[in-house]
Amino acid sequence: MENSSREVAPKTRGAVLKWQAPIYDLECALVGLRKKFRRETLRHAQLSPGEQILDVGCGTGVLTQLAAEKSGPSGKVVGVDPSLPMISLARKKAARAQSQAEFKLGVVERLPFGNETFDVVLSSLMLHHLPAELKRQGLEEIHRVLKPGGRLLAVDFDRPGHPLWWLGVWPQLFMPALVAIFAGKFQIIWLPRASMRSRQWGGGSTY
Ligand SMILES: C[S@@+](CC[C@H](N)C(=O)[O-])C[C@H]1O[C@@H](n2cnc3c(N)ncnc32)[C@H](O)[C@@H]1O
Repeated sequence: MENSSREVAPKTRGAVLKWQAPIYDLECALVGLRKKFRRETLRHAQLSPGEQILDVGCGTGVLTQLAAEKSGPSGKVVGVDPSLPMISLARKKAARAQSQAEFKLGVVERLPFGNETFDVVLSSLMLHHLPAELKRQGLEEIHRVLKPGGRLLAVDFDRPGHPLWWLGVWPQLFMPALVAIFAGKFQIIWLPRASMRSRQWGGGSTY
C-alpha cells in the first residue's frame, strides 16, 4: 500500500470532496443511494471474473470494493480520486474488508495509466463534478485507457422528468451548484442520453 503522507493530490478544476469523506457513506444512505443502487449499477456493468476494472472518482470506494468481488482474485480493480481524505478512507475500508481493491490519487482528465489497460471503466456520480471541458477530456482519457472492445458504464444525475421537481425540490437540492453556475464557476452541460449512447464501446449497455 502507498504511504499517503508522501502522496500529492493532483490539481483539478473538478469539485473535489475532502471534508465530506467521513460522512459521505452516511449521506449516500440518507438520500437512498444504498447497496441496492450499487448492485443495480454493477448489474449493468456485467463484470466478469478476471477483468481489469477502473473506478474513476471512486470516493470512499464502495462500488470499487463490490467490483473487486465480481472480478475475483484473477482480476484487478483500481479506484482513483483526487481527494486524499477519500482515498485514505477507501484504503482503510478495503483493508478492513480484506478486499483486493486498490486505490490511487488521480484525476479523470489525466489518468495515471497506460493506453488500453482496462476492460471496464466505471464512473458513478462523478461526471456532474466536472466543468464541461473536463467532461470531454475525461471521456477521451477513458477511451484511451480502455482496451479495444472495453466498456464504460457512466451513472449520473439526469434532469427530473416531472415539472413539480423543477419548481420545488430540484432547485433546493442543487442550490450550491446553482450558485456556482451563476457565479460563472461552472459551465453546465447536460449529457443527453443519446450522446452517451453514441459513445458505446464494446457490447455492454451504456446508460
Ligand atoms: C459524488 S462523489 C462519487 C463517489 C463514488 N463514485 C460514488 O458513486 O459514491 C464524486 C467524486 O468525484 C471526485 N472528483 C472530483 N473531481 C474529479 C476529477 N477531476 N477526476 C476524478 N474524480 C473527481 C470527488 O472528489 C468525489 O469523490
